[in-house]
Amino acid sequence: MTAKRVCVRVPASTANLGPGFDSLGMALNLYAWVEMSFAEQTVFHLHGDQMQGVPTDKSNLIYEVAQRVFERAGVSHPELEITMYSDVPLTRGLGSSASAIVGALVAANKLIGSPLSDDTLFQMATELEHHPDNVGAALFGGFVVAFWDGKRAEHIRIEPLSDLEALVAIPEFKLATEKARGVLPKEITMKDAVFNVGHSSLLVAALCTGRYDLIRVAMKDALHQPYRASLIPGMEKILNEADRHGALGVALSGAGPTLLTLVDRQSTRKKELEAFLVDTLRAEGIRAATLWLKPDADGAVMIEPRRPGQSFMDYIKGEVRA
Ligand code: HSE
Repeated sequence: MTAKRVCVRVPASTANLGPGFDSLGMALNLYAWVEMSFAEQTVFHLHGDQMQGVPTDKSNLIYEVAQRVFERAGVSHPELEITMYSDVPLTRGLGSSASAIVGALVAANKLIGSPLSDDTLFQMATELEHHPDNVGAALFGGFVVAFWDGKRAEHIRIEPLSDLEALVAIPEFKLATEKARGVLPKEITMKDAVFNVGHSSLLVAALCTGRYDLIRVAMKDALHQPYRASLIPGMEKILNEADRHGALGVALSGAGPTLLTLVDRQSTRKKELEAFLVDTLRAEGIRAATLWLKPDADGAVMIEPRRPGQSFMDYIKGEVRA
């Protein structure tokens, strides 16, 4: 059965978590909302700062992704009304493109009665976005271990530890993933490969078993962070010293420039850690916003349709950060 109007809420995500390059992701409780309905003529309502400059014609990513869903399902719906708001900052390493793509896939699929399985949506999202750790976390929520061989993506979702929190420092400058990938070497040594296999495996085991004492060492990485440090002044100091200010572990979030620390929810040193991150970046001339986030366990979820006459922003208020 097709629905009249659907709305999906999708979380932000952090990828890599240090050593799990392109393979470990975690959903965070910072959200994007995508609402979709059939229309006589395609129209967009884009709300909030993150939507500035986003196309409002049929080249819009949400529109294009929705059309892929319809094509895969063998139906035709060329005209759509699309409404979107996002709190996920763009090009900062918090999975904004994954949340948009997943939001479009899930909303379009729901609109036509959910003919496509979650696995099909995950495969389509990975083909479009290329990072199964980001799209896996955005779609399924929690902590996701994922792999993509260019043809098929596999994932296992793990319930996030409820007493973990994330403090992110989001620099005000943007860093395109392409640029952050461009500084990486084409080949690495066996020593570095072994380093990352060990650390990434240890991190998965530590997060599955609640071994907080091992997170600090397990989040270390030799594949991408050392090369990316040159793009983010202050990053090296933060990676080296955040644990001395109360972090359980620290990493570059995705391709950056956001820095992510994992923190015990009960920690009494939260203010100290926040000041350390902000001051370290400020000393390099970089202004950064900090956000305390919790792991999101739900992934992409449909929310109740809004009442007739209710404005979209009124409908989602209470959960938006702005
Ligand atoms: N795993 C990707 C990278 C992140 O580090 O380049 C993309 O969000």
